[in-house]
Amino acid sequence: MVSSLAAIVLAAGRGSRSGAGSPKQFRLLGGQPVLAHSIEAMRRHDRIDRVVLVVPPGGIDEARTLLGADAKGLTIVEGGETRRLSVRNALEALAAGDSTPSHVLVHDSARPGLPSSVINRLIAALEAGAAGTMPVLPVADTLITDQDGLSGDTVDRAPLRRVQTPQAFDFPAILTAHRDWSAPDEPTDDAQMLRALGHDIALVEGDPRLDKITYPGDHERMERQLGAAMSVR
Ligand code: CTP
Ligand code: MG
Repeated sequence: MVSSLAAIVLAAGRGSRSGAGSPKQFRLLGGQPVLAHSIEAMRRHDRIDRVVLVVPPGGIDEARTLLGADAKGLTIVEGGETRRLSVRNALEALAAGDSTPSHVLVHDSARPGLPSSVINRLIAALEAGAAGTMPVLPVADTLITDQDGLSGDTVDRAPLRRVQTPQAFDFPAILTAHRDWSAPDEPTDDAQMLRALGHDIALVEGDPRLDKITYPGDHERMERQLGAAMSVR
């Protein structure tokens, strides 16, 4: 039973690949900061009780100023050096609260186009008993390995999936996965941490609107795409 659902919105990254002056999550998109889109989508969803925003160390006041009235009722915590440590700080903030949630969503603010249909699919998977679940999409392009500028073998794309966020978890399970994490490699998402403990991660259908702002030009492309469809549902 998903009795209480919290959402973590991650905005503590540097955005080094995006090539912009300021971190990508603080740039304006459709008239509001990129991170505000995810916060709003989470708040609009009637199953989500609270939202924790994770900002760069020392950036809490700046985030409050940027969000203005939207910061009301929001828990804002400082992130860490890696995405994993940023999530950890938010999980610990939730664990330290009066009532811990039964489940939690973890979302990249760099994915501002968050349709409620995806959140619904994740909740359905949790209610079916999954300890973890995430949206994925098939890979459209032919895939090869690059061997010093020459094409290596073609990789069979049929079983491959692109992983998006939000990812959704049983709260005690993902908290344990974070607290006990000791692998040398830095994980790029939370599902792989839970899977490392032997839990199955249920896959639900992702959405192209959830693509991430990563490289130069992604922001502008999204501005054009979202121009008409910013009120994604
Ligand atoms: N993130 C975070 N804390 C970190 C690193 C990343 O909260 N220490 C967040 C980012 O703000 C982003 C999401 O995790 O919303 C996905 O990470 P990514 O796309 O890699 O963003 P950045 O780390 O900011 O970008 P880059 O890797 O290009 O520096
Ligand atoms: Mg990064």
